[in-house]
Amino acid sequence: ASLAEMDDAVPAPNRTQDRNEPAVSAPKDGFANTPDTDPALPANRAWGRAILERIPGSAAGDAIVEASKVRDAQELDRIIATAVEHGKAWGAMPAAERAAILHRAGDILESRRAELLEVMASETGKTIEQGDPEVSEAIDFAHYYAERAKDLETVDGATFVPANLTVVTPPWNFPVAIPAGSTLAALAAGSAVVIKPAKQARRSGSVMVDALWEAGVPREVLALVQLEERELGTQLVSHPSVDRVILTGGYETAELFRSFRQDLPLLAETSGKNAIIVTPHADLDLAAKDVVYSAFGHAGQKCSAASLVILVGSVATSERFHNQLVDAARSLKVGYPEQATTQMGPIIEPANGKLLNALTTLGDGETWAVKPEKLDETGRLWSPGIRFGVKRGSYFHLTEFFGPVLGVMTASTLEEAIAIQNEIEYGLTAGLHSLDSEEMGVWLDTIQAGNLYVNRGITGAIVQRQPFGGWKKSAVGAGTKAGGPNYLVGLGSWLPAEPGA
Ligand code: SER
Repeated sequence: ASLAEMDDAVPAPNRTQDRNEPAVSAPKDGFANTPDTDPALPANRAWGRAILERIPGSAAGDAIVEASKVRDAQELDRIIATAVEHGKAWGAMPAAERAAILHRAGDILESRRAELLEVMASETGKTIEQGDPEVSEAIDFAHYYAERAKDLETVDGATFVPANLTVVTPPWNFPVAIPAGSTLAALAAGSAVVIKPAKQARRSGSVMVDALWEAGVPREVLALVQLEERELGTQLVSHPSVDRVILTGGYETAELFRSFRQDLPLLAETSGKNAIIVTPHADLDLAAKDVVYSAFGHAGQKCSAASLVILVGSVATSERFHNQLVDAARSLKVGYPEQATTQMGPIIEPANGKLLNALTTLGDGETWAVKPEKLDETGRLWSPGIRFGVKRGSYFHLTEFFGPVLGVMTASTLEEAIAIQNEIEYGLTAGLHSLDSEEMGVWLDTIQAGNLYVNRGITGAIVQRQPFGGWKKSAVGAGTKAGGPNYLVGLGSWLPAEPGA
C-alpha cells in the first residue's frame, strides 16, 4: 500500500488536546510553537506503530534523490545560474507573499510528519521519539521566519537587500530541522537557495525540500543537488555567484570552506564539547535525568549534547547521585528505531577514529562506571558509556567525540567547574543544575557558551524561545542565532537611504 493509503487507515494524530496546551507559549508576533505528537493519546500510538512498520526497507525520498543528482560541473553551473536569475524575482516579491508560501510550507511539513519520521529513521537511525520534536522545529522555523521576513523591508529609511543566492550545507544529525531552518531563513529573507544535503541524510533532506516545493517555492528558486564528486562540492561553495553559505558541521569543515574562498560570507554553526555543572544546591533527581537525556539522546550525536558532567563539592562524592547516573544509563534500551522499545538508537556509521577510541580506551586515572559495549556486528550499535576520573586538560576533557559516551569530572567549587568548561576551545551549549540564585548569577556571568540552560537539559533549543548559536570555535563567520529575531538580517545587507530622499 502507498504511504498515503496507510495514513488514511490510521487516524491522524491529534496534537491539540488539552494536555499539549500548557507547553505552548502565548502567540507572540503571530507565532506559537508547534506541539510534538503526544504519545499519551491512543490514536498517536497507533500512528507511531504504523510508522515503525514502514521503516525496514523504506524507500521514501529515493526518487527525489535520484532526480537531483548532478552529473558534472556544467550542470552545476547551470543550476546556479538559474537560481541567481530566479532569485531576483523571489527577492523582489513583497515579504508578505513569501511569508504566505512559507506558512504553507509549515502546514505541509506538518501534513508530512509521518513520512519525515519514516525517512529519518530508515536513513539515519533516528528514533521516532527523537525525530518528532525535530519535525516540530522545522515547522516552527517556517512560521517563525515567515513572520520575521515582514520586519525586514525598511528600517529607519534603510532598505534590506537580500542575498541573491544562498548555499545551504546541513549536517546528517538533524537531517530535517537544520536543513529546513537554514533554507527557510534564506527563502524568507528573499534569497534563492541551492541546498546539498549531507550524504548520510540525502533522502531526509530531499523529502523536506519536496515539502517546500509542494508549498509553492519554485524549483528554480530552491534547487536541490546531490554531489557525488568532492570537486563539485568545492565548486558549489566557492562559486563567485554565491552570496552566503550556511554551514552546520564540524569546525574543520568551516576551515576547509574558508580555504576555498577567503572572502566567503559564511554563517557556520560548528563543533561543541559541552558540560553540565551540578552543584550541591541542585535538585539531583532532575539533574540525573537531564544529564542522561542530554548525553545519550540520539546516541550523543548532537553538537549540543552533554559530553561532560562536572560535579561540584559534595555531589562529587555522592554515592546516591553516582548510582542514579549509572542506573539511568544502564536502563536505556538500545536498538534500532523500528523496535518500539528502543530508547537509544544506533550511531550513524560504524564507530571509528576518535569516537571508537573514546568508546574503547581509557585515559590516565579514568575508570568505566558504565562500559560501552558493541552490541552487534554492524559497529553502529553501542550501549552508553560513562567514565569517571576525567582529568583537567586530558584528551577526554577537551575533544569532541559525537557519540554515546559521557565523562565525569569533579571540582571543589563552582568557580573551578566554570574554569574547567571555559578551558575548552568550543562554546556551544552549557548547563547548570542549581536552585541557588547566586550560583546562577555567577555561572551566567562567566560561562563561555552561546546557549545557556539552567535546570534543564542542554539539547533541543526551541525556536523563538531559545535562539541557537555558538561562541568561540563553535561558530565561524558572521552569524546570529538561528530561530531568533536577528537571523534573517545576516542573509542580506542594508542599503542606506539616499541623503535628502
Ligand atoms: N538545535 C539543536 C539543539 O538544540 C542542535 O543543533 O539540540
